[in-house]
Amino acid sequence: MKFENQVAIVTGAGRGIGEAIARRLAAAGAKVAVVSRTESNSQKTADAINAAHPEAARPYAVDIADFDAVQSTMETVLKDFGRADILVNNAGVTRDNLAMRMSSEEWDTVLDTNLKGVFNATRALLRTMVKQRYGRIVNISSVSGLMGLAGQANYAASKAGVIGMSKSIARELAGRNITVNVIAPGFIETDMTAVLSEEIRKGAQSQIPINRFGAVEDIAAAVEFFASADSSYITGQVLAVDGGMSM
Ligand SMILES: NC(=O)c1ccc[n+]([C@@H]2O[C@H](COP(=O)([O-])OP(=O)(O)OC[C@H]3O[C@@H](n4cnc5c(N)ncnc54)[C@H](O)[C@@H]3O)[C@@H](O)[C@H]2O)c1
Repeated sequence: MKFENQVAIVTGAGRGIGEAIARRLAAAGAKVAVVSRTESNSQKTADAINAAHPEAARPYAVDIADFDAVQSTMETVLKDFGRADILVNNAGVTRDNLAMRMSSEEWDTVLDTNLKGVFNATRALLRTMVKQRYGRIVNISSVSGLMGLAGQANYAASKAGVIGMSKSIARELAGRNITVNVIAPGFIETDMTAVLSEEIRKGAQSQIPINRFGAVEDIAAAVEFFASADSSYITGQVLAVDGGMSM
């Protein structure tokens, strides 16, 4: 099995893209810490994984924006599993609004979750990866962080920030056999995009050369590559998985 004896931590794994990533890594042999804000969601994903791969997953609930809570949750993960080979920073939220109308709270919620959250989880696990002299960190950004999208000043800033942070950490740790790469999904069919009006969906689709929204599996497949030994000579890179939208 590709990830035999490896431990993966996936944030935002209670549903959507994160759930697909957690399932895929478990199917390839990893033990998975399913981290989400909502306990019932992490439990549901962990149960589904364990039904197919007994004792492969454990659920954890934490607000990824809370530095201290994340450090303590990751300490528990390390106690439970003993190591941390793969970290997928996937938890994220949107609070879309035109910049002219955007509230301070909408700005803070998105930056605290999407940008600081990635720092919080990475910070909590880096020392262990350095000691192991092995780590694969995969951060989920967005096409919005590459191109900017109207109504997403907060979200685009957070996702562009993830790219800059990833490149910095990639440079800090390249010599320790730890890679940090970024996936920038386009429009993917999940709860996050289910709220879009028909008009916005049509407008978005018209900008996608492949002419459809992506599936969660499209992202999970790219994560599996960056999480594996196959990508050991790749670090600090951004892969757009967006049907050609940002080319
Ligand atoms: N769906 C898309 O079209 C799309 C496009 C580009 C990027 N993304 C990114 O992909 C990632 C997953 O998106 P999705 O579509 O699956 O979203 P989703 O809303 O379906 O799932 C998001 C997950 O993140 C978790 N989460 C949110 N805030 C959290 C917090 N404060 N602490 C801990 N967990 C938290 C939720 O519990 C949930 O499990 C996000 O980072 C998102 O920005 C999604």
